[in-house]
Amino acid sequence: MKEYNVAVVGATGAVGNEMIATLEHRKFPVKKLTLLASSRSVGKTLEYKGMDIDIEELKEDSFKGIDIGLFSAGGSISEKFAPIAAASGCIVIDNTSAWRMDPDVPLVVPEVNEHAIKDYTKKGIIANPNCSTIQMVVALKPLHDAAKIKRIVVSTYQAVSGTGKKAIDELEKQVLAIYNNKPLETKVYAHQIAFNCLPHIDAFLENDYTKEEMKMVNETKKILEDNNIQVTATTVRVPVFYGHSESVNVEFEKDLSPDAARKILKKAPGVKVVDNPSKKLYPLAIHAAGKDETFVGRIRRDESIPHGLNMWIVADNIRKGAALNAVQIAEVLIKKYL
Ligand code: A2P
Repeated sequence: MKEYNVAVVGATGAVGNEMIATLEHRKFPVKKLTLLASSRSVGKTLEYKGMDIDIEELKEDSFKGIDIGLFSAGGSISEKFAPIAAASGCIVIDNTSAWRMDPDVPLVVPEVNEHAIKDYTKKGIIANPNCSTIQMVVALKPLHDAAKIKRIVVSTYQAVSGTGKKAIDELEKQVLAIYNNKPLETKVYAHQIAFNCLPHIDAFLENDYTKEEMKMVNETKKILEDNNIQVTATTVRVPVFYGHSESVNVEFEKDLSPDAARKILKKAPGVKVVDNPSKKLYPLAIHAAGKDETFVGRIRRDESIPHGLNMWIVADNIRKGAALNAVQIAEVLIKKYL
């Protein structure tokens, strides 16, 4: 089997770490793995297949001889370095929001629009969608095919790991400070996150939505390739370490009963239905953490409209919402296009 030189950009971060683990556990055919981060991390190593690999500083010449670059070091790094990498022949799979809405960059969730990957040739960049969008479209695509979605109203309950390692540390420190009656430090978020919910993810825009909310609106349309779908979102950060949960209300053109939806979802790729309320079974972030699937439950009719369903969708934001989706894209890329 052909092997590829792979670089992880942002290797020391929460998503970068998971990318390294995902490459290993999915047995991605890696010839050489290059780990890139800032100059702060030079001198450190990370483990891959039992070997300690040195972290190198990300520089303009880091991509010589690299076939595939998995980027997760922030939007400004991707804006600058993705074109540099692509110019040297490296295909970039970018986990940031920098390139997602570029018409020449495919935005891909393999279970939903794998075929879009072919357009990687336009810029040499493939974008990985926003974590909360990925899990929602994995669950909604098969329902859209069956009954055509008119409108989506989504509210999210997003884990701190989506903000990165610093945020995981901040929640842990705040919880400890509260238990120990110590003064509390708030650096990463605008307000205390421990024992709190923040209706504020990413920056506020002129229309009073946050960037995160508009990512869900715009990315959903691009991935489902349907600009007629109406989407409105409220995104909330909650004091959970791993796993995003979402309350999703969907209005369809045709009738779709909860049973029919469950039947479709049971066969859908990447989806696991957990929906037995009488046994107190429904998707939970603590169960989704460390898993690859998108979990769907609490499927019930929206009794206020003719063709509506409500559901609860949960997935590990670092896995399916980031690292796993990126590696799945790389798998399709090498299988079908390289
Ligand atoms: P470093 O650890 O050297 O700062 P997270 O999203 O979990 O906070 O991780 C961010 C990732 O992006 C880390 O691997 C971090 O590396 C990397 N990163 C941040 N700034 C830069 C930069 N200027 N150049 C390269 N990598 C960077």
